[in-house]
Amino acid sequence: MKIFTTRQQVTQYFANKTNKTVGFVPTMGALHNGHLSLIKQAQQISTEVVCSIFVNPTQFNDPKDLEKYPRPIAADIAMLEQAGCDILFNPAVDEMYDDNEKWHLDIGNLEHLLEGKFRPGHYQGVMQVVNKLFNIVTPDIAFFGQKDYQQFMVISKMVNLLSMPVKLVMCPILRDADGLAMSSRNIHLTADDRQHALILSKTLNWVKSNFDKENIPQLQQQAEQMIGAEPEISLEYFAIVDGSTLLPVTAATKNIVALVAARAGKTRLIDNMLML
Ligand code: PAJ
Repeated sequence: MKIFTTRQQVTQYFANKTNKTVGFVPTMGALHNGHLSLIKQAQQISTEVVCSIFVNPTQFNDPKDLEKYPRPIAADIAMLEQAGCDILFNPAVDEMYDDNEKWHLDIGNLEHLLEGKFRPGHYQGVMQVVNKLFNIVTPDIAFFGQKDYQQFMVISKMVNLLSMPVKLVMCPILRDADGLAMSSRNIHLTADDRQHALILSKTLNWVKSNFDKENIPQLQQQAEQMIGAEPEISLEYFAIVDGSTLLPVTAATKNIVALVAARAGKTRLIDNMLML
């Protein structure tokens, strides 16, 4: 695997990329099998796969979260080598940002709903870095996880608004055997937190098994009660919404998604499941 740390190395490498389909998997590292499943999917439809590892400061609305974000770079490199990734782009913060850089793109209410409400500024930071990464790597196809459902929608919106020449692919959520959605932040969970956190995937599964389009407010309330009954979990939101707009379901809705965010101890977790 080639490891690049400067933008120039990447740009130079791709200067004559005729006949290549470049697949790109942006990450913040602390890789797990969820990330590797994106690499595998990329390998199936690309001739060259680039992974980036960059803990992007502009998307952290909580400085403590940024500070304690895991950065096991040696283990990450070993996992990527093992997975057969072709290129790793692992820049330092000052390689990516000048001082006092500004970014804003109006993406309407997508920015303020659900995650946007609880993490103000987060999606502007995500778009800022993904825009830069796309400009540097110039991928044909970029792979993102359903785990961050709203993030995928935000990035699709940016790609549309800016007419970026990249195709986006959403990959399914990978879970541990007990149902917990894999996440780099799971290493912060104590054994007890982890046990309690299982209520999130259990509730999503329960709602899916009992799903009835005519009964959404009741299902949402029951889900809130189920999670509320777990004393160590503090719920931020549980929402059953139109999967294309993240707004309430209407007669025109074609796909429906249930999304949840909660804290288990000090760790913030998100999860979601397609209902329809
Ligand atoms: P990160 O949290 O490292 O996630 C990188 C990619 O892996 C995202 O597309 C995410 O949805 C996907 N992913 C995470 N957990 C997953 C799981 N359990 N199953 C499948 N895919 C999973 O998301 C980010 O980084 C950043 O916001 C980034 C896009 C890199 C911009 O900084």
